[in-house]
Amino acid sequence: MAQAQDDHDAALSGRRQGPLFKGTDYSSQDYWERRFAATAAMVKSAEQRTSEADGAEFDWLGSGDELMDSLMAQMVAGSMRDGLTLNIGSGSSRAGRGLRRRFEEKGWDSRQIVNLDYAPAAIALSRMSEENCFGDLKTQHVVADLLDGFSLSQEISTSVTRTNAQQVTAIFDKSTADALSTGPNLRALGTKTGMLSFVAERNGPRPAAAESWAPVEVLAYNLGRVARPGAFWAVLSYSAQRFDFLEASGGRGVKEAQRLWEVMKKWAVEAPSGRSLQDTHAPAVYHWCYILRRRCNGHDHT
Ligand SMILES: C[S@@+](CC[C@H](N)C(=O)[O-])C[C@H]1O[C@@H](n2cnc3c(N)ncnc32)[C@H](O)[C@@H]1O
Repeated sequence: MAQAQDDHDAALSGRRQGPLFKGTDYSSQDYWERRFAATAAMVKSAEQRTSEADGAEFDWLGSGDELMDSLMAQMVAGSMRDGLTLNIGSGSSRAGRGLRRRFEEKGWDSRQIVNLDYAPAAIALSRMSEENCFGDLKTQHVVADLLDGFSLSQEISTSVTRTNAQQVTAIFDKSTADALSTGPNLRALGTKTGMLSFVAERNGPRPAAAESWAPVEVLAYNLGRVARPGAFWAVLSYSAQRFDFLEASGGRGVKEAQRLWEVMKKWAVEAPSGRSLQDTHAPAVYHWCYILRRRCNGHDHT
């Protein structure tokens, strides 16, 4: 797995990757599903040998503990703790367990945590890890594509009904916006029940720049439609520029995202694998924490 982290750092630290570029396609559902299925197979054979489910968990950009603590403090300060907390692109990270532990320490209802990923194998691993760690399953596990706003809002509605939660009030995102950002731009197709739907621009004619949405703009739009005004979106990213577009001029995607989200806080944290004691002269590597807030004057939530 160290190789995978190296791949990630090398591929994502500044160089744009994706289908238009050589290398791993971090925006591809197929890539992630194959990767998590391979992890599941490895865990299974380790279990057969040692009765230990070792290696099922892998965290991109470290644990994200500092960001998680900061998000929960904001939820308390902003009275945003009665809704769903989405752990988007949950993968096989420990973050879902970290959120549950923190919720239980505070006496909050951990059924309101929704681990969400578009790779079914990732969701299966996440369930298995929760059961191994706590002896039961309390958080929710949902397969959904964050770039498909219609199915995302349907899945969220189901989770809201199941838990009596008040819409989405917090989102935890550890390197998922990063992965999405490596994909191709998308074109808005028109509204489906009041929400825009999108198609990737891999094929077909290129639309005018104003109609071409970067994947992170689509993510911001779709999350903005399911999040309650005032909700928080906490992001850990390798990029210091991940949300610069919220302060820039641009096409429709930029404008919609700006109407929905503002960056409240941004700070750097030293990357966990940045330096070892022997490398004291090596430059520090930083990751970036963001806390965004869903604007109150944006679209009505669905
Ligand atoms: C870089 S990994 C981060 C995983 C995890 N958050 C962590 O910190 O280890 C990106 C994750 O986002 C998921 N993902 C990427 N694009 C997605 C999309 N459009 N919808 C849902 N999940 C997506 C991938 O399956 C993968 O689990």
